[in-house]
Amino acid sequence: MMHLLKTSDLSAHDLAYLLKRSAKFKAKPFGRRSVLAGETVCCYFDKPSTRTRISFETAVVHLGGTPLSLSSKDLQLGRGETLEDTARVISRYSRALVVRTFEDAQVERLAAAATIPVINALTDGHHPCQSLADLMTIAEHKGKLEGVKIAYLGDGNNVAVSLAQAAALAGANVVLACPDGYGMPAEISSHARALADRHGGSVSLSTDPKEAVQGADVVYTDVWLSMGHSESERAERHRVLMPYQVNAEVMRLAHKDALFLHCLPAHRGEEVTAEVCDGAQSVIFDQAENRLWTSMAVLYALIEGKLEGAGAAGKH
Ligand code: CP
Ligand code: NVA
Repeated sequence: MMHLLKTSDLSAHDLAYLLKRSAKFKAKPFGRRSVLAGETVCCYFDKPSTRTRISFETAVVHLGGTPLSLSSKDLQLGRGETLEDTARVISRYSRALVVRTFEDAQVERLAAAATIPVINALTDGHHPCQSLADLMTIAEHKGKLEGVKIAYLGDGNNVAVSLAQAAALAGANVVLACPDGYGMPAEISSHARALADRHGGSVSLSTDPKEAVQGADVVYTDVWLSMGHSESERAERHRVLMPYQVNAEVMRLAHKDALFLHCLPAHRGEEVTAEVCDGAQSVIFDQAENRLWTSMAVLYALIEGKLEGAGAAGKH
């Protein structure tokens, strides 16, 4: 039994399998209704969500099951029951547990105690489900992932980490342009670089947004103030990250057919201008739609035991 807590839990083979399975669900959404027939999936969200929560709930229904959406206010967790006991109990009722919360240690503790697959629906450190939809969208529009140049501009946050890991597994070339002090943790970027080396791609870090987007096939950004960041950081983050805004001038430096991606929600006028976000190169709503098909693929693959895990890397 496997969990999906971070994108690097997957082998390159798993990633390819999930992207192929997602495309099959997109072509035929209701072909696997027996997977969850009569069963439930718990969706525990400790932070707000539009795409992740609705796509997972819809995915459960498409697979024949019933989603149970819960917050800490609904559970005894909010009154001090342990994460471990909560995971053990939910494992007796449901086929999977989808969790959005703060520290990564919380999903790790749930996964260690659960006897059903635990899926990270966003933590402070990772957003693996988002990275699958990102790659699916790039593959749909570019026809390939290997050798594609992805420039990520802005905060080196959870979305950036999972994107870098997914792109590394797929043999793409990622450049992350983040201001000093806003890059991803050094151990995460060196691990992503090692993954990329193994799969024929590259992960590089820069503080220069203009250099990073030169010739890029994909330009990606995310919010400057993530859930869990303090409002008191807003003004300083705005000041430091403004030179990393994706605007028309930045898009002109990229490849002329470059795509614009954003995990959403977007803050037009901050990390991206309205002109780019709503412009012809933007594929943000395809990307949002693909959250549904990739959520179905993740549930299906974990419940049916279709994945081998990162430990199996090198077997292929
Ligand atoms: N991209 C994403 O995870 O969106 P939500 O926060 O709306 O789920
Ligand atoms: N980095 C953002 C992503 C939201 C989908 C956050 O964690 O709030």
